[in-house]
Amino acid sequence: MLTVKDKTFVPFIDKATLESRIASLAVRIDEDYRDKEPLIVVVLNGAFMFAAELMKNLTVPCRITFIRVGSYAQTQSTGVVRQILGLHESLEGEDVILVEDIVDTGLTIRQVRQQIESQHPASVRIATLLFKPEALQTEVNLDYVGFEIENRFVLGFGLDYDGFGRNTKEILVLQ
Ligand code: IMP
Repeated sequence: MLTVKDKTFVPFIDKATLESRIASLAVRIDEDYRDKEPLIVVVLNGAFMFAAELMKNLTVPCRITFIRVGSYAQTQSTGVVRQILGLHESLEGEDVILVEDIVDTGLTIRQVRQQIESQHPASVRIATLLFKPEALQTEVNLDYVGFEIENRFVLGFGLDYDGFGRNTKEILVLQ
């Protein structure tokens, strides 16, 4: 059990389960990118721990870079317009693997993908540790999914509640 601010979280996905699932995603990525050198683009902040664990398990030659998404304007009820911050590399011709912590409504990853694609990479695939299918509001094509989970608020292993609670080895769920 973990209390963060006013909320209490209970264990949900333990360390061993996380590590073995991430290792098996890495095996698939190694196979899919056998003759390639993927560029891992991590969507900060939440995905940093997943990305580290994933990269430790990859054997294909690969590089990593980090982006943040900033929402700069509310649009209609359909979503928030977001802007990629901190990407200095050219993505032209790169085989990009976008790494996310969790796909909830899907609006963030859809916007990020569109902006990445506008830079003419050779390919774009998405790896997400967690996916809440019930919360999805838009069509997204997820290539590597760690765990499909129910529509509940989760925390830990990089994911936060109001900035706190990222520093755990397991994932917890709101009680
Ligand atoms: P989406 O645009 O709704 O798919 O939201 C994705 C972002 O919302 C993630 O990258 C997280 O930062 C945050 N998020 C969504 N669900 C959760 C959750 O259960 N716990 C912590 N953060 C979440």
